[in-house]
Amino acid sequence: MEIIHISAECYPVAKVGGLADVVGALPKYQNKIGHIAKVVVPAYETKFIRESEFEVAYDAWSNYGNHHFSYRILREKTNKLGFDLYIVHIQGLTDRPNVYGYADDTERFIAFQIATLDWMAQWEHQPDVIHCHDHHTGLIPFMASNCLKYQRLNNVPTILTIHNAQYQGQFGWDKLYYLPAFDLWKGGLLGWEDAINPLASAIKCAWRVTTVSPSYLEEMMNNARGLESLLRQEQWKSVGILNGIDTEVWNPETDPMLSKSYNLKTVEAGKLANKKALCDVFQLDASKPLFTFIGRLVDEKGADLLPDIFYNALQQHGDNINVLVLGSGDNWVEGRLNQLKDIFDGKYNVYIGYNEQVSHQMYAGADYLLMPSRVEPCGLNQLYALRYGTVPIVRRVGGLRDTVTDIGDGGFGLCHDQTSIWDVTHAINRAVDIYNDKKTFKAVRKTMMKIDHSWDRAALNYIELYQILK
Ligand code: ADP
Ligand code: GLC
Repeated sequence: MEIIHISAECYPVAKVGGLADVVGALPKYQNKIGHIAKVVVPAYETKFIRESEFEVAYDAWSNYGNHHFSYRILREKTNKLGFDLYIVHIQGLTDRPNVYGYADDTERFIAFQIATLDWMAQWEHQPDVIHCHDHHTGLIPFMASNCLKYQRLNNVPTILTIHNAQYQGQFGWDKLYYLPAFDLWKGGLLGWEDAINPLASAIKCAWRVTTVSPSYLEEMMNNARGLESLLRQEQWKSVGILNGIDTEVWNPETDPMLSKSYNLKTVEAGKLANKKALCDVFQLDASKPLFTFIGRLVDEKGADLLPDIFYNALQQHGDNINVLVLGSGDNWVEGRLNQLKDIFDGKYNVYIGYNEQVSHQMYAGADYLLMPSRVEPCGLNQLYALRYGTVPIVRRVGGLRDTVTDIGDGGFGLCHDQTSIWDVTHAINRAVDIYNDKKTFKAVRKTMMKIDHSWDRAALNYIELYQILK
């Protein structure tokens, strides 16, 4: 089958979070099992896009409403990614250093979707499936089926994967004229409440809807930022498919970003070497358990509670633990996390910002990784932690519930029920005890590292889903 993934992010060329990791891996695994999966993303102005590695595939003009734009589609020609990657360069719109966060994001992503469909509509053949990811590509199922100029794509099945329903991309009806012509009586398919809502529209129009874990699908029926009733209505065509991880990129035995590589047999020495290197850089003490957090510093991740959680833990456990945080997000949280540095010098540190290499080193060097998320559609951090022998401390929610079992229940992680200071503090107390029980701790590490979360299974699940639609 020929599958076209369309997304705002794709590792390694554009990454903000887990969406990039999924879109940079799933197509590779689909290709490995004999299909042709391609990826289309906007061409941002990042250091990861080297012009010499791309060739021009298409050059044209288009418009959203009265706004005309020229665009160029480039194909990655080195084949090093394991799939064909196309980037859509739209002058004045995509060519910016960040993926999101601009006042005209609506216009940027509408232009991206229109350019992509214009291009696909003039191919000599039609793909078997158009697979859209999140709201940035949420207008595609509607446009592909209803816009007159995309008639050739009308019968191509579309899939929407919801990575996070917290973000829906709403904009006002005054921008309806941005979309290419369609029978106006179909306009209701675009809206939800009082706005055009790309995520809601995709839930209505896509032939199938998937979410990135079974538990998240269940939870969304009661908690999806206003889309609950719509999701219940469309439940018949929805399925939760748990994400995998790219075990070629995330492999402690071959990961070039680590200070020392290791495997199941050498995990104790390997992790210690990485921990020492990390502790040297961040002025921490490698002889004590290292608790970490990696991620976006937003309420959804429970990041607002982190300053208090770490303050309490460091007060309570005196000189017996270290904490290291990597992330960026809410200014208030960043500020409070920074303040703790002065109070707990030598036991606590924080890196505010995005750093792929430091993240890999932390998965390898840490003893524990905290994820007190309020909402977690899947979560990849805990899967990377498992693969690198780092014990996840997670709230039982979404994909965390589907992938981490508590040590007390014969599993390999520490689970708590609420995103609350009390629950997480209690989990940290348990973690300190388990760390001191060396035999149990070593056994847990080995159990975790043996778990297979590679994409093989999920890549097949998606193919089976597409095949129903043929
Ligand atoms: P989300 O997509 O909701 O942010 P996920 O757990 O699915 O959460 O994926 C997060 C991804 O982003 C992981 O690959 C994680 O390592 C990475 N990441 C998050 N914050 C940072 C950061 N500050 N520096 C480096 N990598 C980060
Ligand atoms: C989203 C979710 C995260 C998930 C990722 C990849 O960003 O917040 O839980 O792992 O998408 O699907």
